Amino acid sequence: MSGELEGRVALVTGAAQGIGLACAELLLERGARTALLDMDPAAVVAAAQRLDPSGERVLAVEADVTDLPAVQAAVDTVCHRFDDVGILVNNAGFPRDAYLSKMAPEDWHRVIDVVLTGTFNCCQAVIESMMGQQWGRIINMSSRSHLGNPGQTNYSAAKAGLIGFTRALALESGAFGITVNAVAPGFVETEGMTRLENYDVLKQRSVDKSPLKRVGQPEEIATTVAFLAGPGAAYITGETVHVTGGRYA
Ligand SMILES: NC(=O)c1ccc[n+]([C@@H]2O[C@H](COP(=O)([O-])OP(=O)(O)OC[C@H]3O[C@@H](n4cnc5c(N)ncnc54)[C@H](O)[C@@H]3O)[C@@H](O)[C@H]2O)c1
Repeated sequence: MSGELEGRVALVTGAAQGIGLACAELLLERGARTALLDMDPAAVVAAAQRLDPSGERVLAVEADVTDLPAVQAAVDTVCHRFDDVGILVNNAGFPRDAYLSKMAPEDWHRVIDVVLTGTFNCCQAVIESMMGQQWGRIINMSSRSHLGNPGQTNYSAAKAGLIGFTRALALESGAFGITVNAVAPGFVETEGMTRLENYDVLKQRSVDKSPLKRVGQPEEIATTVAFLAGPGAAYITGETVHVTGGRYA
């Protein structure tokens, strides 16, 4: 299986840590030259150096995915350094939880913007070159929360919206050899999660409700992402793969 992405160029957003970093690491391991995009410049450079100290097959690029010109500039840098992007993992995102009555409007906008506008921007920056290549793999990081979670009207709306986006773009781009799929993780132990004030309570609730009685690890999401990017998934598009340890409700 290793080497199956040889010759491909991958771009992973939100890749300085957590699920994004695990995805970048596995795509690299499977042969893709891989660009890590993140809005945290120091962290993304450090992550890239850890993955490939020689810098030959890994590139760090700084951009906020909500900033289209910055995303386009980052994609141009990747193209010049490696080649046209063939695999795009739209992973940047985060929750900003509050019940609706207490939710700050800026937390509504920021979550919608990062998840939906950020994904739109990154797709728009690569789609024409994918159409030119007659090959592309776009993988959007949704969440089990697309089913609806109390305290997450912003996040649930954004992650459900991403599934509609995924299906629409799959229909638009299939004729060009491009597949577009979503991954919907359940609770995954990442830096973003452990930083949450009520992390221990959330984790315990997740373990209790999970048929597998544990939370997930970033590498367990990365394996699905790498599968969707690989030849074994060539006939899968418009799909949402749940990686939740069996937890739905
Ligand atoms: N961890 C979970 O339990 C879980 C569950 C379901 C879905 N997800 C989704 O998976 C993705 C990754 O989650 P994680 O837990 O690894 O997150 P994390 O907070 O550990 O890491 C997210 C990374 O994204 C970067 N980032 C944030 N906003 C950005 C922006 N606007 N532009 C560029 N980079 C940006 C951050 O700097 C950070 O490096 C997110 O989309 C999240 O919603 C996570």
